[in-house]
Amino acid sequence: MPTPLAELHMHIEGSLEPELIFALAERNRVTLPYRDLDDLRSRYEFTDLQSFLDLYFANMAVLRTAQDFADLARAYFARAAAGGVRHAEIFFNPQAHTARGVPLRDVLDGLGDAVRGSESEFGVSSALIAAVLRDRPEAEAAAMLDELLGLDVPVLGLGLDSAEVGNPPSRFVDVFARARASGLRTVAHAGEEGPPEYVWQALDLLGVERIDHGVRCLEDPALVTRLVDDQVPLTVCPLSNVRLRVVDTMAEHPLRAMLAAGLLVTVNSDDPAYFGGYVDDNFAGLRDGLGLTEEERETLARNSILASFASPERKRELL
Ligand code: HPA
Ligand code: ZN
Repeated sequence: MPTPLAELHMHIEGSLEPELIFALAERNRVTLPYRDLDDLRSRYEFTDLQSFLDLYFANMAVLRTAQDFADLARAYFARAAAGGVRHAEIFFNPQAHTARGVPLRDVLDGLGDAVRGSESEFGVSSALIAAVLRDRPEAEAAAMLDELLGLDVPVLGLGLDSAEVGNPPSRFVDVFARARASGLRTVAHAGEEGPPEYVWQALDLLGVERIDHGVRCLEDPALVTRLVDDQVPLTVCPLSNVRLRVVDTMAEHPLRAMLAAGLLVTVNSDDPAYFGGYVDDNFAGLRDGLGLTEEERETLARNSILASFASPERKRELL
C-alpha cells in the first residue's frame, strides 16, 4: 500500500473550480465578468504570481455565506481524498473576505463545519491556517489576528502569503511573535518569487516552523545547510511553479536536486483549481516531467506526514 499523503500547502480559495464559481454566482446573484465557462477558463494563463493573484481575488466575489465556504471545503476534501490525501492543513485568507464585507465569523462557521466533519465524511483529518496578506498593512494583519484569537475558533496556525517581492517577512515580526505566544503554529511563503534572504527572515525573524515553496533556497548554499540541519519542511508546489513561471518546465523543476541535498521536501497543489490539478496531478506531473520514481514518491509521502502538524497518534496511523 502506498503511504498516504498529507497536503500542507493548499489555499482553499484556490480550490474554487470554474463550475462552482458559476454555481455560487447564480446562488448569490453575483454578476460575473465572464460570458461562460470557456471565457473564464481562457483567463487561466499566468505570467507571474501577480497575474494569478488578480484572478484569484476577483473570483472570491462569489463566496458570500458560511454555506459557500462549507461547500467549497467539502468539494476540496472529496477531490483530495480521491487523490490519496488523508490529512490536510488548509490556508484561508481572512482579509480577502472581511475587506469585501464578509464577516470572519461566517467564513469560519463554514470552513469550521467542513473541517470538523472531514475525517468522518472523507477520511481526511484537517486543520485551518489563517494566512496574512503580506501586501496589505501590518496593522490590518494585527487586527485580523486579534479578531481570530477573540473568536475562539479552531484555527491551528498563522501563515503569510500573496505578493512576495517587496513585502519581506520582516514587516510582520510583531504579528508572528504574538501568534506564537498565543499557541498558534506558524509558517510562511518565502523563496517562491522572493530571494533567499526572505527565507532567512521567515526563519530568524518570524520563527516559522515550515517554509511554503522555498525553491529559491538553492541559490544560497548556507541557507540550504541551515534548512537541512534543522530539517525545516519545504512545502513545494510543482505545477504552481510551472504555471507561475518560477521554473520554465516540469523537466527543469529542482525538486530532485532538493531531495538530493537532504532537504525535507513535500509536494502540494497550492491552488489546484488554477494550476492544473490536485496533489495526485502534481505527482503525475513529476513522474512524467522529471521521471519521479515510486521510491521517491514514498519518501515525499512520508515527508508530508512527518512535516504535518497532525497529532503523534494520527501520524502513527498514517505512516
Ligand atoms: N503564493 C503566494 N500567495 C498565494 C499563492 C502563492 O502561490 N497562492 C495563493 N496565494
Ligand atoms: Zn501558496
